[in-house]
Amino acid sequence: MTTLEVTPSGSSCGATVGGVDLSSPLDSATVAAIRDAWLTHHVLAFPDQVLSAEALEQFTLHFGPFGDDPFFESIDGHRHIAAIHRSADETSSLFAESWHADWSFQSQPPDGTCLLSRVVPPSGGDTLFADQISALSRLPEGLRDQLVGLVAVHSARSGYAPDGLYGQDDTGRSMRIVADESAYATQTHPLITTHPETGEATLYGTIGYIIGIEGMERDAATELLLELYRWQTADEVVYRHRWEPDMLVMWDNRCVLHRATGGYDGHERLLHRTTIGYNPQVR
Ligand code: SIN
Repeated sequence: MTTLEVTPSGSSCGATVGGVDLSSPLDSATVAAIRDAWLTHHVLAFPDQVLSAEALEQFTLHFGPFGDDPFFESIDGHRHIAAIHRSADETSSLFAESWHADWSFQSQPPDGTCLLSRVVPPSGGDTLFADQISALSRLPEGLRDQLVGLVAVHSARSGYAPDGLYGQDDTGRSMRIVADESAYATQTHPLITTHPETGEATLYGTIGYIIGIEGMERDAATELLLELYRWQTADEVVYRHRWEPDMLVMWDNRCVLHRATGGYDGHERLLHRTTIGYNPQVR
C-alpha cells in the first residue's frame, strides 16, 4: 500500500495529496485511503500527475460508476470525458462562474467530479470550493430552523435550456455544450441532507440550479435562498484552488459547491472532466 502525504489546505476544505502515482494501477488499500481523505477534506488535489484519458477514466471508476453528463459533448473517443475549455481569444461568458453542485437537477446527482488540468493559464482561472457541512454549522439558529424540512426545486433551465445562458444565443464558445428542452425539467431535493457516507448534515445545492422551494411563494423563496447563499459562499467556508499543469482534483459533490473564476484573458485554459456517478454501493 502507498502511504499518502495529505496536506490540508488550511481553509475549511481541500487538501493536497502526494506520495502516489495515479498513472499506475492502484491497490484497494490505496483507493480506500484516498476515499478516506476525500471524505475528510471534500476536495483533493493531486499535483504532478501525467495521466492519459484512459488513466483518468480508471481513476474515476475507483470511486463509483461514471455519471450521466447531459448537455456536454464528450471529447473524441472518450464518451465519459468532457473538455472544460476556453481559448485564448474567447469572449463568451465564463463557463460555470456561478456557484453550483454538479447536475443537482438530476434525481440521483453525481457523488463527485474529477478535473484534470491540461493547459493552465499563467495566472487566474482558479476554482473555488465552498464547504457546505461547515456552512450549515455556521448558520444562525433561526435561519437553520427555517430550513428544516424544506424541499428545494432544482432545474437546469437557466443554463442549458434553449433560452438559457448556454442556449441558442451563446456563440463563439470553445466548449461543446448542447442545450435542449430537457433542461426545463425539475427535480426536488431537501435543502438540508445527510451525507450518505459520513452521516454529516450538509446543505445541498444553491440558488441558480435551485429555482424555488416547494410550497413557498416565489419571492419569499428567492429571499430565503439569497440569504442562505451568503452563508453558503462566505469566505470562511471557501477554499480557492490554484491550478498547476498536470494536476488532478476530485471533489465531493454531495457536500461542496464550486465555481470557476476568470482573470486569464488572452490565455488558453483546458481541463478534462469526468463525473463520479451516484453510487448505490456506498449507501
Ligand atoms: C466545472 O464546474 O466543472 C468547471 C470549474 C472550473 O472550470 O474551474
